[in-house]
Amino acid sequence: MATTTDAPAQDERRFPDGFLWGTATAAYQVEGAVDEDGRGPSIWDTFVRTPGKMLVDADADVADDHYHRYEEDVALMADLGATAYRFSISWPRIFPDGDGEPNAKGLDFYARLVDALLAKGIQPFATLYHWDLPQALQDRGGWQSRATSEAFARYASHVAEHLGDRVKRFFTLNELHNVVEAGHEAGILAPGLKLPAAEVNQVRHHVVLAHGLAVQAIRAAAPSDVQVGPADNVFVVSPAIDAPEHVRAAQIATRELNAGLMTVMLEGRYTDRFLERCGADAPRFTDEELRTIGTPLDFVGINIYGSDHYVLADDGPDGYADLPFAKEHPHAAVWHRITPESIYWGTRHLRDVWDVRDIYVTENGCTSTGADGPGGELVDTDRIAFLRSYLRELQRATGEGVGVRGYFLWSLIDNFEWIVGYKNRYGLFHVDFETQQRTPKLSSRFYAEVIRRNAVA
Ligand code: BGC
Repeated sequence: MATTTDAPAQDERRFPDGFLWGTATAAYQVEGAVDEDGRGPSIWDTFVRTPGKMLVDADADVADDHYHRYEEDVALMADLGATAYRFSISWPRIFPDGDGEPNAKGLDFYARLVDALLAKGIQPFATLYHWDLPQALQDRGGWQSRATSEAFARYASHVAEHLGDRVKRFFTLNELHNVVEAGHEAGILAPGLKLPAAEVNQVRHHVVLAHGLAVQAIRAAAPSDVQVGPADNVFVVSPAIDAPEHVRAAQIATRELNAGLMTVMLEGRYTDRFLERCGADAPRFTDEELRTIGTPLDFVGINIYGSDHYVLADDGPDGYADLPFAKEHPHAAVWHRITPESIYWGTRHLRDVWDVRDIYVTENGCTSTGADGPGGELVDTDRIAFLRSYLRELQRATGEGVGVRGYFLWSLIDNFEWIVGYKNRYGLFHVDFETQQRTPKLSSRFYAEVIRRNAVA
């Protein structure tokens, strides 16, 4: 009689040896302590207090109080068995005025955090800009001014000089698309501007220039070898049908739809079609700036929540037809369509379009309110289903040799979710924002099991 031990080994969908498993957070969303140890205000402190900007009445003055509870939060990561952590550094803690005199106490906090991570065997991955521009720089023109790109490089250099002995991997900016389009065109994220096209294009150029200048500054200042790359939310384009002509169309669309950000960062030039489309509103730039923007990278980080586009091959001038979404398409948060194959195509396109060999998925996850389960456990099987389906697709990519080196789940703990405040909960650990108590959700047990096996079943 066959027993389970006689059964053929299950296809465990293993990840490569040494694959890093982490979680991600961002300074403004978790730290709180906005007036402590010399931190200056950021554009988000202003935004949350500007009438009509937030969809709910909330601020991040306390948030998860992570500034004081970071040791407890590092212990949660260790409980998961995580081997990496992506956090962001608050620019206005390090340079309260955006530039000029650094504030040593700000840097001390991150040094303590990094030491706590290393003591638990967790590799620190630091993002230098997750949307919290010092307000002082906004007052001097913000991303509309090239001076902000230069100030960013000085800040990046200072951080790399002081933390580069222990932090080996830096991300320059998080989700450049959102910085530019949500912050300066739609006006739905700080600084909440609705600029005309020419100015939006110039902001975009200053943002990629800041990235390129920072890559160079970090390498020049770090006391030992460090690796640098962006953490962008590229527009992920999936072929609606997996056949060679449609895959090719998706590659063409990937390059064009990301022309102002990922494409220029990886190719050092704006595509002809992008410049044609911008017409008289095209950004002003020099060849030297393009060379800086295209400085070769050590890796590319991409935040992947879903496919932004499905395409098919098309004979028209674009070479692809961009398809509409059905209104019933399943989603998590209002904006978040569930499309597991996006994580496969997003990472695979990086390899096939630009020959990127070292990739990190710097964010992936979904919101869930969960349900009260037995013994009071918060049961979020919807998040587990989401994670399982995406991780299987990620394993499909690594199984085909796409060089994904690590995955950062958004997020470790429920936190300040920008304009919707504390309404949308992305954490593996529930946070009671009255008591600051952290409680594991069922999904944290699922993720710990993935990490333990280095596989998704
Ligand atoms: C951002 C995070 C955010 C998450 C969930 C990403 O756009 O980088 O800051 O909390 O998505 O909305």
